[in-house]
Amino acid sequence: MATEYAKLIIDGKELQLPVITGTEGEKAIDIRSLRQTTGFITYDPGFGNTGSCKSDITFMDGEKGILRHRGIPIEELAEQSTFVETAYLIINGKLPSRQELITNSILLNDQSMVHEDMQIFYQNFPRLSHPMGILSAMVNALRSFYPELMQTDEDFQKVAIRLLSKVRTMAAMSYKISRGHKVIYPRADYTYCANFLNMMFDSPVNPYNPDDDVVAALNTFWILHADHEQNCSTMAVKTVGSAKANIYASISAGISALWGTLHGGANQKVIEMLTEIHNSGASIKDVVERAKRKDNPVRLMGFGHRVYKTYDPRAKIMKKVCDKVLPKLKVDDPLLDIAKQLEEAALSDSYFIDKNLYPNVDFYSGILLRAIGIPTNMFTVMFAIGRLPGWIAQWKENNDDPEQKIIRPRQIYMGETVTPYVPLSKRLE
Ligand code: ACO
Repeated sequence: MATEYAKLIIDGKELQLPVITGTEGEKAIDIRSLRQTTGFITYDPGFGNTGSCKSDITFMDGEKGILRHRGIPIEELAEQSTFVETAYLIINGKLPSRQELITNSILLNDQSMVHEDMQIFYQNFPRLSHPMGILSAMVNALRSFYPELMQTDEDFQKVAIRLLSKVRTMAAMSYKISRGHKVIYPRADYTYCANFLNMMFDSPVNPYNPDDDVVAALNTFWILHADHEQNCSTMAVKTVGSAKANIYASISAGISALWGTLHGGANQKVIEMLTEIHNSGASIKDVVERAKRKDNPVRLMGFGHRVYKTYDPRAKIMKKVCDKVLPKLKVDDPLLDIAKQLEEAALSDSYFIDKNLYPNVDFYSGILLRAIGIPTNMFTVMFAIGRLPGWIAQWKENNDDPEQKIIRPRQIYMGETVTPYVPLSKRLE
């Protein structure tokens, strides 16, 4: 029962609309009764001002640059947690006990193998297929390999673990196959991140030994991507899930949405942009000027965010990780210097200042991935693995929420009014 109401006057009629207040003081007007009582709907393209749900998972304050999962600041998770622990936190709502963490790791190992028949699928994708297209198709295909229904919380836990573990194996496997190399199987003696690196880079001729700093950097990278409340791909997952489609189909839709260059695909585009600057010798000033031009669709990739109107806290951490890891790996990447110069130029330009455009998580993430040895076309796949906990948790929360319905917004029709059909013989040429 609401204790606060907003007053709305439409067509001379006064309406009391309940106000919902979140635990961090965020306020929303509940407009669910608006259409029935007044005939009006709301108009909000891109849903920039629409609260689509109540959620317990992630809190963001775009003005202050705050990001917390289940209440815990992203800075503390990045510094002290691992990706597996953060995934547990996001999906289960609390940090695991020592025993829960051990059990979770055993289950992740149990689920790490991919059905051998899946390799046949991989072999048949054209060589130039983008790994995101392959991943989306393969995650959807998981339903055919694991058709059992999800009826209990235990079933859900099993599916969550399966997704976290197998998607990582599938990603490494698709990389190996795309290069025509032998697939490396997961190893139970490695942690989640070390296991992935080993599956990516080990080979019969060049044995790979995961470096502790690289493993730590990958943990941080995935923690920083673990969830981001109602972003585009998460909404895709929830939209598909709201029709009661299975979780694999829903997450496959999220992978497709994430592929887009305005969303997760930006990490690949940032590196392409920085490489182009490096190779062409274009001046930073010109690049910034080009991104400002209205007649040019090229934006400064890795800049701007729907919610953050200040520095993305994840980008701050990512930049620090680059500064720490690159020298340790003895990587002298000219793209890091270009990125820093670009950031400095943009942040002192009134266009970017006035529009509150700051680096987002994708601005520095590609530089870190390059240093680790991840090929550019796999960057968005790396993001997808990291975002799995968020997609899984948000899918479940939406599915369990009695207030949620099939996602089906309205529209304001602006087309022709009733128009008679004209037979082909009577139409003008
Ligand atoms: N470079 C230049 N101008 C920009 C940029 C940019 N990167 N981002 C926004 N703007 C401008 C827009 O042209 C617009 O100007 P206008 O008001 O004069 O028309 C204004 O800033 C607002 O931008 P919108 O596109 O309306 O903002 P929206 O919230 O819809 O978009 C988005 C956010 C998609 C992230 C946008 O900033 C963008 O395209 N950035 C580049 C791509 C990118 O880095 N994506 C990754 C986002 S983070 C993530 O998904 C993990």
